[in-house]
Amino acid sequence: MKKRLILTAAVLLGFTAVGGLHAVEGIDMQDMGLSRTSVFDIPAPERFEFPQNDPGRLGVLPRGYEGAPPQIPHRVDTFLPVTLNRNLCMGCHNQPGLMGKKMPGLPTPMSASHYIEEGGKLVMNNRRYPCVDCHVPQADVAPLVGSTF
Ligand code: HEC
Ligand code: HEC
Repeated sequence: MKKRLILTAAVLLGFTAVGGLHAVEGIDMQDMGLSRTSVFDIPAPERFEFPQNDPGRLGVLPRGYEGAPPQIPHRVDTFLPVTLNRNLCMGCHNQPGLMGKKMPGLPTPMSASHYIEEGGKLVMNNRRYPCVDCHVPQADVAPLVGSTF
């Protein structure tokens, strides 16, 4: 008897829950995704281009915060991809002897965090080899979602 009572109560509760779900207002299609269009549309993303300026033309960009990886202020299309045998970024920025020196129009030498010491010599830290994991160029695109960070 007790079991039956509990079962009935559970079924009744279940019905109430389903009823409750029905009462929830649906979300408008336009508000579901970042494209703000119908889910049946195939929206074309806004076209944008990365800067085409060669290094040494426009100087550096402001940093987001202290310790942030600086943004790349020049074109990268001619230097990518970075592969095991080819890293053109290093060709210009790998200058441990000039570390900490910033010379206008010349590549900023990579900082100490990009190196490890081996036998008294500074060698590239492999974890920093794929530069574009952290450093990115900027394009003039309106953000999809605002940020106050
Ligand atoms: C031909 C030389 C050259 C190559 C190749 C090159 N850079 Fe640069 N880079 C520069 C110069 C010069 C600057 C200094 C800014 C300027 O004058 O354009 C610079 C600036 C930067 C900065 C900003 C540093 C700061 O102090 O804010 C970053 C980050 C950077 N480059 C990353 C890269 C990455 C990643 C690659 C590879 C995809 C790369 N660079 C390839 C020459 C080069
Ligand atoms: C794991 C992330 C990461 C990778 C990968 C990385 N960097 Fe950086 N880089 C940083 C951060 C964070 C900073 C700023 C703090 C610092 O200097 O350590 C920085 C700073 C720099 C600077 C400015 C140095 C200065 O003295 O102001 C240059 C130039 C640079 N990186 C170039 C490169 C190049 C070229 C590569 C690839 C060979 C590379 N980085 C790979 C994170 C990274």
